[in-house]
Amino acid sequence: MKIVHTITELREHLAQFSRPAFVPTMGNLHEGHLALVRQAKPLGDVTVASIFVNRLQFLPHEDFDTYPRTWGADCDKLQAAGCDLLFAPDEKELYPEPQTFKVHPPAELADILEGYFRPGFFVGVCTVVMKLFACVQPGVAVFGNKDYQQLMIIRRMVQQFALPIEIVGAETTRAPDGLALSSRNGYLSASERLEAVQLSLALKAMAAALKAGEQDMAALEAHAMKTLAERGWQPDYLAARRRSDLQAPQPGDALVLLGAAKLGTTRLIDNLEV
Ligand code: PAJ
Repeated sequence: MKIVHTITELREHLAQFSRPAFVPTMGNLHEGHLALVRQAKPLGDVTVASIFVNRLQFLPHEDFDTYPRTWGADCDKLQAAGCDLLFAPDEKELYPEPQTFKVHPPAELADILEGYFRPGFFVGVCTVVMKLFACVQPGVAVFGNKDYQQLMIIRRMVQQFALPIEIVGAETTRAPDGLALSSRNGYLSASERLEAVQLSLALKAMAAALKAGEQDMAALEAHAMKTLAERGWQPDYLAARRRSDLQAPQPGDALVLLGAAKLGTTRLIDNLEV
């Protein structure tokens, strides 16, 4: 695997290829990230991953400074997963001056759910993804379904800017107990790690209630929030939304259940299509 740190080197190495398959990440790689790399591999003629902890998508009180940086292990894992090229710019390379041109996704998609609780998050995500796309110029890029709203917003961004990039969504990789793998799982204490699966279980309980005929979405959401709160979580939202645009569902809509909650100081998210 070739490792490059500058946009110039990246472009030099990509010049001979016509369809890079790209997996952007913030590092601290786990099996979920590697599954994306493996899925990307047959889709292009060179497989490119990036590692960049993007300051723009963290709020001032969030974990930018402490976000786990595990460079050596990440390189080994990417190499073993078949990645051909790793782009790992530092902040001076990607943001040599303050990034004052930004991509602002529409409020109805980006100021709800994650964007409501993390204002500006999706501006940061869209801006860095747009910039990484400009650097790598991929033919195809793979994103995880785990970040459901992020994937939807990136799909819309690519569509609305007519970027010639195919966006592929990859299934959520889970631990054997059902917890969605996340770089932030490493923050959990041993007892919190045992408890953490309750977020996905709360979404499953919502799905079961819907299947059993529950139609009152507000009651469904309130009950799930209460259940987690009683177990000591601080839920931000547990919501039943329309899959197509994440708005409040009408009868007959295909649904996705989305949840975000803090366990101790660790904020976890998950979702379940029903
Ligand atoms: P990061 O959290 O590192 O995730 C990188 C990619 O891995 C995203 O597409 C994410 O959805 C996917 N991913 C994470 N956990 C996963 C799991 N358990 N199963 C499947 N896919 C999983 O998401 C970001 O970084 C950033 O916002 C980024 C897009 C890189 C922009 O900075």
